[in-house]
Amino acid sequence: MGERKVRVLVLNGPNLNLLGTREPGVYGAATLADIERRLRESADDLGAEVRFFQSNHEGRLIDAIHEAPGQADAIVINPGALTHYSYALHDAIKAVGVPVVEVHLSNIHAREPFRRRSVVAPACAGQIAGFGPDSYLLGLIAAVSAARRRLEEKGDESEE
Ligand code: DQA
Repeated sequence: MGERKVRVLVLNGPNLNLLGTREPGVYGAATLADIERRLRESADDLGAEVRFFQSNHEGRLIDAIHEAPGQADAIVINPGALTHYSYALHDAIKAVGVPVVEVHLSNIHAREPFRRRSVVAPACAGQIAGFGPDSYLLGLIAAVSAARRRLEEKGDESEE
């Protein structure tokens, strides 16, 4: 019996569409398309398939989280600045019960005081911050293993 692929939804919040040109000293030179390409390339080796969604709108991200059950086994999210104040995003993550890994390019704990707090983190399985584009790859690895654990617990490791 083959393990089925783990479906991971990768969400990006406000301003992350500008990666590559946005404060490259902080966020690096890679564009969001570069990061997505790298995740797509790694997904196969991890037994995962990835889907991507970026929005500058909190409500659209919440809608995507609401739609995740049944479509995704885990979520990797970089909520951008919503990290620091969106209780609505926190509640959406709590509501759906899909394991969520929070990722950040920069080490938010080493930056301005307002960035050091994530209101989303308590709703997530864990957080990875400070490794540039590698944060997403590490997040994908963590999301796949969290999803596999959950699928095993549910006895839902069905064949495709
Ligand atoms: C970020 C950190 C946030 O504080 C910031 O608002 C972002 C990007 C990161 O990936 O380092 O938009 O989430």
